[in-house]
Amino acid sequence: MRTVPNLPENQVTDPAVYLRRREFLRTSAAAGAALAAGLPALAACGSENPGEARADAPEPKSPPRALAPVTPAPARFRAEDPLTPEKDAKSYNNFYEMGTDKDDPARNAHRLRTEPWSVSLTGEIAKPGVIALEDLLRPHPLEERIYRLRCVEAWSMVIPWVGVPLGDVIRRLNPGSKARYVAFETLLDPEQLPGQKRRVLDWPYREGLRMDEAMHPLTILAVGMYGQSLPGQNGAPLRLVVPWKYGFKSIKSIVGIRLQAEEPVTAWNQSAPGEYGFYANVNPEVSHPRWSQARERRIGDWRKRPTLPFNGYGEQVAALYAGMDLRRNF
Ligand code: MTE
Repeated sequence: MRTVPNLPENQVTDPAVYLRRREFLRTSAAAGAALAAGLPALAACGSENPGEARADAPEPKSPPRALAPVTPAPARFRAEDPLTPEKDAKSYNNFYEMGTDKDDPARNAHRLRTEPWSVSLTGEIAKPGVIALEDLLRPHPLEERIYRLRCVEAWSMVIPWVGVPLGDVIRRLNPGSKARYVAFETLLDPEQLPGQKRRVLDWPYREGLRMDEAMHPLTILAVGMYGQSLPGQNGAPLRLVVPWKYGFKSIKSIVGIRLQAEEPVTAWNQSAPGEYGFYANVNPEVSHPRWSQARERRIGDWRKRPTLPFNGYGEQVAALYAGMDLRRNF
């Protein structure tokens, strides 16, 4: 039985308002009344400001290291928007396996051991098996991609990723003709990912793409950001990045990739099918049942900005959905 079927209210409030309210709740006797009124139980510790230094954070088991060489992003893979400050992108996170508050992942990431790491490759491919991450990546030069990330909660960031095109990885697996979808799975280990001790979602976190989405040149498997390997809270050592879809499609800490004929079961869609679709393409015209998707707050900005169809990547990806009803297939 799940205890929290939906993204909690604190996750969809404007980040600035949320941060101020947490401060208020922590320091005021009103906390009890607010909880009684149905607000989610808020953790009473931790850093509330994106990027605030965490003097008490233990050393990570696998500390980030510099990545080189990395091919700089060509213009078509380089968002023009200013980058989100690194400290914000690494301290304001969604990674429910490490807790449901935005600062929980940075606090808990030190528990995650990312070396050694292996990935199980299964389904409709020439040679299914388990492969060490470094062997999976060895044939692929690292590339930089500067992408907008739009969370379904209506906040956004601009992040310089380092990774490899997922399509290149898939081609080397020699997919068979029945491979129509790709399914991904996150590590299942409640000792390293303590949020899995609560049934917030049906663990492990799972996501999926249609094959043509997976092969699209914008879709990458990321291993780093800001020139360094990924920190645990951002999905070390391997995560998906699909910039025209809501952030929940970009699954973190991947241990399984399966090519299959059927549409994969995905964690948020399974949890609340009326709220989180399989496609999850960013679409300002289709509201979430509990909030509008027309605007978003870029982390670091005060004013909201309009959300763009396909998160601004429509020219590159709209053709994938020609003839589909994107209100039904949300
Ligand atoms: N992957 C896993 N395994 N667990 C999660 O809770 N959250 C998703 C996605 N990938 C999530 C996940 C959501 S809702 C978003 S918005 C992005 O990760 C956030 O990525 P970031 O923390 O690197 O900004």
